[in-house]
Amino acid sequence: MSELTFIHRFEPAAGLNRPPLLLLHGTGGDENDLISLGRMVSPGSALLSPRGKVLENGMPRFFRRLAEGVFDEEDVRLRANELADFVTEARKAYGLEAPVALGFSNGANIAAAMLMLRPEALAGAALLRAMVPLRDAPKADLTGKRVLMVSGLKDPIVQAENSARLAASLSSAGADVQHEALPTGHGLSQTDLQLMLKWFAGSGG
Ligand code: MLT
Repeated sequence: MSELTFIHRFEPAAGLNRPPLLLLHGTGGDENDLISLGRMVSPGSALLSPRGKVLENGMPRFFRRLAEGVFDEEDVRLRANELADFVTEARKAYGLEAPVALGFSNGANIAAAMLMLRPEALAGAALLRAMVPLRDAPKADLTGKRVLMVSGLKDPIVQAENSARLAASLSSAGADVQHEALPTGHGLSQTDLQLMLKWFAGSGG
C-alpha cells in the first residue's frame, strides 16, 4: 500500500488480543523484511511495516548518518517526527491502537528516537542491536511503556557501553526496561527470537 506518507505493508490483526506491531527494518532492508519475524513473535498482531525514506547508496534507512554509528541528529529528529506522524495517520486509516515497535539496527535506533521525542506514538518497543540515537534528547515520560533491548556483546557497530547508556536513559524516563546482552554480534540469533517470544507473550491479553 502506498496512499499514506510512507510506502508500507499492512496486515490486519488475526483476532487474538495482541497489540499492533510497527516493524522497522535495518539499513538496506524494506517493508517486507520483518513481516515473518513479526508474525512469529506476536502471532495475530496487526503488522504495520514502513520502508525508510532515506537512501544511502540506494539502501533504505530511517535517517541519515555521517558515518557508521555517527548520526545526523537534525535528521534523526525530523525523521522520528515524520514517522510518528505516519503512525498517527495509519492508526486512523486502519483503526489501530498505539503499536509496539519491533526494530532492528537502524530501525531500532529510530524507534528509540521516537520514544524520546514522541513517546505517545508507541505503546512500547523491542529494540534489537540499538544504540543511543541522540546525544541530548528531551526528558520524555515513558511511564508504563515496556521496552525489550537485546544487544550483542561482540557487536562491532554498537559498543556495550553505548547500549547500556540507552537502557539507563530509557529506564530513568520511567520505561519498564529489560536489557539482555548476548554473546553474539550485530546479526540476530536464536536467543533473540526466544527472548522476544517470551517478552511479547507478556504484552497481550
Ligand atoms: C545506524 O546507522 O542506525 C546504525 O549504525 C546501525 C546500522 O544501520 O548499521
